[in-house]
Amino acid sequence: MSALDRIEAIRAAAESAVSAAADTAALEDLRIAYLGRKAELPQLLRTVAELPPEERSAVGSAANAARQAITALIEARTAELAGAELDERLRSDRLDVTLPAAPACPLGHLHLITQTWRDIEDVFLGLGFSVAEGPESESVEYNFDSLNFTETHPARASSDTFYLEGGALLRTHTSPVQMRSMIGSPPPIYVIAPGRVYRPDNDATHTPQFHQVEGLAVDEGVTLADLKGTLLAFARAIFGGEREVQLRPSFFPFTEPSVEVDVSCFACSRGTLADGSRCPLCKGSGWLEILGAGMVDPNVLLAVGDERYDPERVSGFAFGMGIERIAMLRHGIPDLRLYFDNDLRFLAQFGAR
Ligand code: PHE
Repeated sequence: MSALDRIEAIRAAAESAVSAAADTAALEDLRIAYLGRKAELPQLLRTVAELPPEERSAVGSAANAARQAITALIEARTAELAGAELDERLRSDRLDVTLPAAPACPLGHLHLITQTWRDIEDVFLGLGFSVAEGPESESVEYNFDSLNFTETHPARASSDTFYLEGGALLRTHTSPVQMRSMIGSPPPIYVIAPGRVYRPDNDATHTPQFHQVEGLAVDEGVTLADLKGTLLAFARAIFGGEREVQLRPSFFPFTEPSVEVDVSCFACSRGTLADGSRCPLCKGSGWLEILGAGMVDPNVLLAVGDERYDPERVSGFAFGMGIERIAMLRHGIPDLRLYFDNDLRFLAQFGAR
């Protein structure tokens, strides 16, 4: 077979092999077989110089033309198959990101105390109060002295208060935030101060750490009627629109007069259940005690040390409630310690709302 015939045969074989190739990998094998260093056609090109002079030009250009034709064919077919292969990969690799994660993972929810804390904040924010904060490590001055506690008041005893090294203490109530809010901020003032407080007690109705929300309003002409109206709005928002509140005389060093505030029981009618039996929630009284309150004692206003808090010019009311107690009443929780045991069987009952 002449060299020219052999070139033509190689070209024809390459053409049919390329058009039959099923994928780009097969084409790469063909490229090596026909155009690689050891393939026949490139070998032939390398030996053109050894041919008789009259054959060189014809064989050389035929071999070159065949090499270019095979190269072009492989490139064209590769481009064709690569496009199809990419389409196929995109189809089979497709990921549905809208499928649920497996295994499904429950989201969890806020602790009941946090939920109640936020509910109470919402009510007072709606009434125009803002939220204030104070430190849990507090001074004797803010926790007791400036709040008109006498030197010998029993709450100061180390059996009732956790003292820290250096003379500070863990605040026993949120009332010191009253002083902190007034110092440096002139009346009118309408704040609530939620937060953690501490007392050395531990039984079914007392835990060493618990939560309170303090309230303070100081303005010109604030009266006990304003206190009662504010707490009525609060009671109805938290316990239901039918509620009433009643004030009973009480005593706190920093309010005068002082009151205990009751909300009408939402589980019964005046202490009696529908079947005539005694209501277990309010123990038949028809009322639930929810907080302590009163008119800010003039001595507390004087302790601010700012003439803008002159008790002859401004007056105020204050209240303090336990968040645990509000949630206990609302949800019928029998034991305070349930909040802090972290038993999920308890906590999960107060899930997504
Ligand atoms: N600080 C009081 C307590 O912890 C509650 C209270 C606050 C009473 C404000 C009156 C006014 O018991």
